[in-house]
Amino acid sequence: MKKILVTGGAGYIGSHAVVELAQAGYEPIIVDDFSNSKQSVLAGLRDILGHDVPCHDIDCGDADALRGVLKQEGTVAGVIHFAAFKAVGESVQKPLAYFHNNLGSLITLLTVMKEQGIENLVFSSSCTVYGVPDQLPVTEATPTKPASSPYGRTKQMCEDIIHDTAAAPEAGLRAILLRYFNPIGAHPSAKIGELPLGVPNNLVPFITQTAAGLREKLTVFGDDYDTPDGTNVRDYIYVEDLAKAHVVAVRRLLEKKASEAVETFNVGTGHGNTVLEVVKTFEAASGQKLNYSIGPRRAGDVPAIYADATKAAEVLGFKTETSLHDALASAWKWQQALGEAKA
Ligand code: WQD
Repeated sequence: MKKILVTGGAGYIGSHAVVELAQAGYEPIIVDDFSNSKQSVLAGLRDILGHDVPCHDIDCGDADALRGVLKQEGTVAGVIHFAAFKAVGESVQKPLAYFHNNLGSLITLLTVMKEQGIENLVFSSSCTVYGVPDQLPVTEATPTKPASSPYGRTKQMCEDIIHDTAAAPEAGLRAILLRYFNPIGAHPSAKIGELPLGVPNNLVPFITQTAAGLREKLTVFGDDYDTPDGTNVRDYIYVEDLAKAHVVAVRRLLEKKASEAVETFNVGTGHGNTVLEVVKTFEAASGQKLNYSIGPRRAGDVPAIYADATKAAEVLGFKTETSLHDALASAWKWQQALGEAKA
């Protein structure tokens, strides 16, 4: 089986990608420093897959540690790079930590990949590179705009680093950049899911924790935007669908079907939902009445963004398959499993 190194593979999206890679016949190898994940994720992966997934607890920015893993694991056919700090608000408070970690880990990875002759990279990028778009839905050709946070700027810079590295003479790098929209939900088994450490920044874990009684109420950050009901619009993609997009990208690179050294794809559902639509859909999916109130806008929020998902459909043959309702139902099932685990 072809080995695929998954940096950040014990994280939310990374762990779901590990499942899909293994079930597609690849051998995922996790490297993760567990700064934003727990060892319990490995047990969840074992429950789902029926076997342990090799995991190395290292700093992905430590070149010698990465070299050591590759020496131990032998030939790796490709890499999916998830490892990064990703909280928009936190990045405003700690810009240097974000630039150091997010840029440093990518530069280290690319350096070691070049040394080891590993040519294939799938990079976890983000719709935050579009900033506040002038038109909707956004396509891959939509000009990137100055991001609204240091986090978003690290994603823009990482994309540029990958383009310049792939364009260098004898680069030997072929990359696919996947621009995520809003990943939500959990594996159907409820053995893995989103594990926000502390108070959740993101909407859906805050909703499920409120419904579970762990939070008193949800605050909807503003209802005076120019949107159908005044609340922000986002493209909420089920995490399992997003994970499957990574397998498609890995396969495309390993089969050398990419048409250029660096390809970029939006990975979203192709339609937007408002915050209040998410709340109502969650109530229908969970049978739980949600306690929420309207509060002030959150600094840095983009009023509306959702994907034009045509390119992934036409070039990758990838389309999302899961409704917002079912994705939210999986998030609720996972939240309940977490509660039982603590009980
Ligand atoms: C969604 C909507 C909030 C919490 C995220 C990631 C970012 C990137 C894109 C990966 C917004 C509203 C939220 C709450 C609320 N993903 N909200 N009350 O900001 O779109 O960005 O997805 O790269 O890294 O952070 O996601 O879930 O924080 O917010 O009203 O308590 O929910 O205003 O409109 P966001 P989010």
